[in-house]
Amino acid sequence: MDRFEKTALMIAGAMLMIFFFSVLYAVKQRDRNVPQCVPYDQPYSKGKLVQLDANTYQLYYLAKMWSFDPPTVEIPLGSVVDIFVTSADVVHGLHIVEKKVNMMAVGGSLNLQTVTFDKPGVYKVTCHEFCGMAHQTMQGEIIVK
Ligand code: CUA
Repeated sequence: MDRFEKTALMIAGAMLMIFFFSVLYAVKQRDRNVPQCVPYDQPYSKGKLVQLDANTYQLYYLAKMWSFDPPTVEIPLGSVVDIFVTSADVVHGLHIVEKKVNMMAVGGSLNLQTVTFDKPGVYKVTCHEFCGMAHQTMQGEIIVK
């Protein structure tokens, strides 16, 4: 191995370390919520909103060509929502700009991100993964009152 290769490998290794420590720092110190994969032993074929207690919800999104199910949900201000997403067909995305939610919707897997809605308003849920002809129309809404 020549000197140039060694240097390139060391730089690549250092960049990998910086990347992993940046993610750890964001999660632990800055309290950033990163999406996670959860075991997928109970697939669902319909989206739904489940209320667990006064301000805790589970929102099960089914992404499909070219809509989200459920298309619109209403929750009270201050709700803490576990957002689950999977896909019924091709790969989709789930993006909520204001809440920094950026998830992938992949058939056969289930992604989860927990979000607190502490400001009233209409939050647009958009697909950010090109998924075919009507990709740009694939939207949903979370209304926080
Ligand atoms: Cu679904 Cu783009």
